[in-house]
Amino acid sequence: MAESASSPRRITAPAIAQRKGSASPIVMITAYDAPSARAVDDAGADVILVGDSVANVVLGYTDTLQVTIDDMAHHVGAVARTQPRALVVGDLPWLSYHVSIPDTVQNSARLVRAGAGAVKLEGGRKRLDSIRAILDAEIPVMGHLGLTPQSVHAFGGFKVQGRDLEAARAIVDDAVALAEAGCFAIVLECVPDAVARLVTDSVDVPTIGIGAGRHCDGQVLVFHDLLGLEERITPKFVRRYAELGTDARAALTAFAEDVRAGRFPSSDETYHAADTVADEIALYGRTGVTGSIAPEEQPGVGAGSQA
Ligand code: KIV
Repeated sequence: MAESASSPRRITAPAIAQRKGSASPIVMITAYDAPSARAVDDAGADVILVGDSVANVVLGYTDTLQVTIDDMAHHVGAVARTQPRALVVGDLPWLSYHVSIPDTVQNSARLVRAGAGAVKLEGGRKRLDSIRAILDAEIPVMGHLGLTPQSVHAFGGFKVQGRDLEAARAIVDDAVALAEAGCFAIVLECVPDAVARLVTDSVDVPTIGIGAGRHCDGQVLVFHDLLGLEERITPKFVRRYAELGTDARAALTAFAEDVRAGRFPSSDETYHAADTVADEIALYGRTGVTGSIAPEEQPGVGAGSQA
C-alpha cells in the first residue's frame, strides 16, 4: 500500500536532526531513479540524496554545473514515486539559489512538489539569507561544506579543502553558522578528518561525511561508485562493494554472443502456435490463415512483456 508523506514509518528531517551523536550513524546514499531508490531503501538507508552528481554518474557531464532545476525535479520525482521509507533530499543545482531569494524559494518548492522532504545546498555563511528564506517557507535544509563541487572553478579543481588552519577555521565557522540558522544536517565533503572531527564537535546537528573520515555522525556515498557501476577513476574515499559494471558488461556480451550464435531465443522463450495452426501456417503462409494463437501462448504474460 502506498504511504503518504506524513506516514509515521517515513523518516523525516527532524528525525535525522535528532540522530546527532547517536551510536547508530546516519546512512545516506544517492539515487536518481526508481530502481536505484528501491534498492537504497530496501538496504535500509536513512536518507536518499537525489544529488546533482546525477550530472556525472547518469547524464554524462564532467561536472555538476550542467544540471538544471528541471533535471533535478525530474529525478526527485522518479525517486519519490517509489514511496521510500528514507528521507528524500533533493539537491539544489548551481544557479537555482544564487540569483534571488524568490527564485531560491520557488526552486526549493519545485523539489518539494516533486516529492523531496528536504533540500540540500552548497556553501557557508554567504548562503545564510537563502537558507533562512527556504526555512521560512517550511522546507528543511541540509548544508554542504568542504569540497563543494559547484565551486569547482572557484576552487581551481576538485581539491581537498580545509588543509591549513585558516581554511579549517573557516569551515568550522561556516558549519556553526549553518547549524545556528537551522540546517538539520551538514554534509562535509573532502576535508581532513581532524577538521571533520572539530566540526562534528562544534555543531549540534549531525554531520554526514564523504571523504571526511570517521568522525562524522553519518556517511554518504554515490550509488554508482559504491556498486562499481562505472570504470571511471574514483577518489580514494570510495569503497566499492561490488563490481556491477563488470558483471553488466559480461551479461550484455553473453547476450550479444547468444544472439549471434543463434542460441537466443530458445524454444522456452518463444510463443508457439497450436500444432494444427502451425501446420496450416507452414502449408499456406500467414496470409491464408484464419486460426488463432493458443490462449496459453498469448503475449503479455512474461515479466518484461508489454504486448
Ligand atoms: O551530489 C551529490 O551526490 C552530493 C554528495 C556527494 C554529497 O552532493
